[in-house]
Amino acid sequence: MKSIDIGDITLRVLDRGSGVPLLLVHGFPLDHSMWRRQIDFFSEHCRMIAPDLRGFGQSGVTEGVVTMEQHADDLNRLLDAMSIHQQVVFCGLSMGGYVGWQFWRKYNERVAAFVACDTRAVADTPEAAENRLKMAERVMAEGPVVAVDAMLPKLFAESTFQDKPEMVEAMRQVILGTDPKGIAAALRGMAQRPDVRDMLPKIAAPTLVIVGEHDGISKVDEMREIADAIPDSAWVVIPHAGHMSPLENPDVFNDALAAFLTL
Ligand code: MLT
Repeated sequence: MKSIDIGDITLRVLDRGSGVPLLLVHGFPLDHSMWRRQIDFFSEHCRMIAPDLRGFGQSGVTEGVVTMEQHADDLNRLLDAMSIHQQVVFCGLSMGGYVGWQFWRKYNERVAAFVACDTRAVADTPEAAENRLKMAERVMAEGPVVAVDAMLPKLFAESTFQDKPEMVEAMRQVILGTDPKGIAAALRGMAQRPDVRDMLPKIAAPTLVIVGEHDGISKVDEMREIADAIPDSAWVVIPHAGHMSPLENPDVFNDALAAFLTL
């Protein structure tokens, strides 16, 4: 991992391999380690750039609200700071996908292709946004265990809980190690993220839309609508996987991504 100063903060980023840059943007409330099976598989072919977003993993933390646009701005500055001027493949999961929409909106000249994994294009309902704000307060008062209790049961397919408890435990430890201020700031940022459905028909880059068949957060039907709305899109459902499809079924996920990237 490298520490990269992007101006007001330092981000930690894994930078491995060479070739087309594959920018892997993690979900909430996780870090770059959720991509370990992709990092191992693709680093022979691509330059893997897997940051910890502001407030997560080992990256610097800011209090208050961190919007999806702020994360996109951070990634833009990260690429500049790493002197990566070649176009990247932007691959984001869930919150990483919310960041991806904003990255596309502001920095699409940097994007060669887009991979939207287990994510959503709609905004929060007022009730969902309110719940996030309440959860942010609870995380600040009681710590990251609140996020473990709220999120962990929703991240995986039932079969993953039974067959791969070590994977669930690894993600639990990541969340428990996350600064409450970072979790709360991202919750507040997600609560105010915009609905981006109008933007989807304007996404001009080749796009792969991937979803775990048992994803309970970004459901298959909703993700199918995202794929249908993006003109140049491919669509893959990952079997035996929930919301964490790249981690739960890496073989199928990696084959699908390799086929999309024509590796
Ligand atoms: C994620 O995996 O990033 C979260 O499920 C996103 C969300 O809470 O909307």
